[in-house]
Amino acid sequence: MTYVTEWGRRAADLYASDYARRYRQHDEELSHVEAYRAFCEWLRDICGRFRKPIDVLDLGCGTGRYFAALKNVNELVGLDASGPMLAEAANPVGADRITAKTIHLVEGDALTHRFLPDSFDLIYSIGVLAEHTPFDNRIVNSVASWLRPGGRFAFTTVHPDSASIPKTPGRTLGHAALPFSPKPIRHWLHTKLTAGGQYADEALIVERLGQRFSIESIVRLESEAHLHCLCVAIREGDVPAR
Ligand SMILES: C[S@@+](CC[C@H](N)C(=O)[O-])C[C@H]1O[C@@H](n2cnc3c(N)ncnc32)[C@H](O)[C@@H]1O
Repeated sequence: MTYVTEWGRRAADLYASDYARRYRQHDEELSHVEAYRAFCEWLRDICGRFRKPIDVLDLGCGTGRYFAALKNVNELVGLDASGPMLAEAANPVGADRITAKTIHLVEGDALTHRFLPDSFDLIYSIGVLAEHTPFDNRIVNSVASWLRPGGRFAFTTVHPDSASIPKTPGRTLGHAALPFSPKPIRHWLHTKLTAGGQYADEALIVERLGQRFSIESIVRLESEAHLHCLCVAIREGDVPAR
């Protein structure tokens, strides 16, 4: 990759060959994991909301463990910063159940990669934003440009109350003080607790998505790893959803 941020580089370093192989092996054991099934169900349901076949981007696709969950898909693009994860995604779990007409795997940094405007009907991202890469304005601006009007952005974040986040004294104090703080201090504390988009709760998601998206749903889901927010947002625009 020629143009990567520190986040893209970190991801590429972390998801190196050995880890990618273990990650892919673990994919084979997921079919009975409740959270995995819930994520698959969530995606399948979102695909079903479109009335015509759709073009889809999996942002941070990893080993492609959700490819088989999709339905109603013409072109599927998987973007990831890690070459070894993409190499595993060439032979993803449940390959015989994948119905996408074409799959194109692209090595790139979600924060800097360019797709043409209006390229996709659905962009989804699981286990990436506000977890490995900040959920920030760069991502929101790119996704808003890459989505067709009426298209959907479905993504997970790690909620700042997740038990997986180390309870430092500062976080514990900040969390306790939040409900009692006056508005400007509450905003500052909230910014600290969400660490510039490295974690994201409902309020941060709504704020970041701004006027260009309308929120279809935000729910919480506890996986074996984290407390997540699952958000589906619709890109505002003149053209109705397909
Ligand atoms: C926890 S894995 C999730 C993979 C897949 N979405 C899944 O749910 O199995 C995180 C993935 O995001 C990728 N990633 C993290 N930050 C990225 C970035 N800035 N650009 C592209 N990929 C990124 C990593 O390389 C890794 O494959």
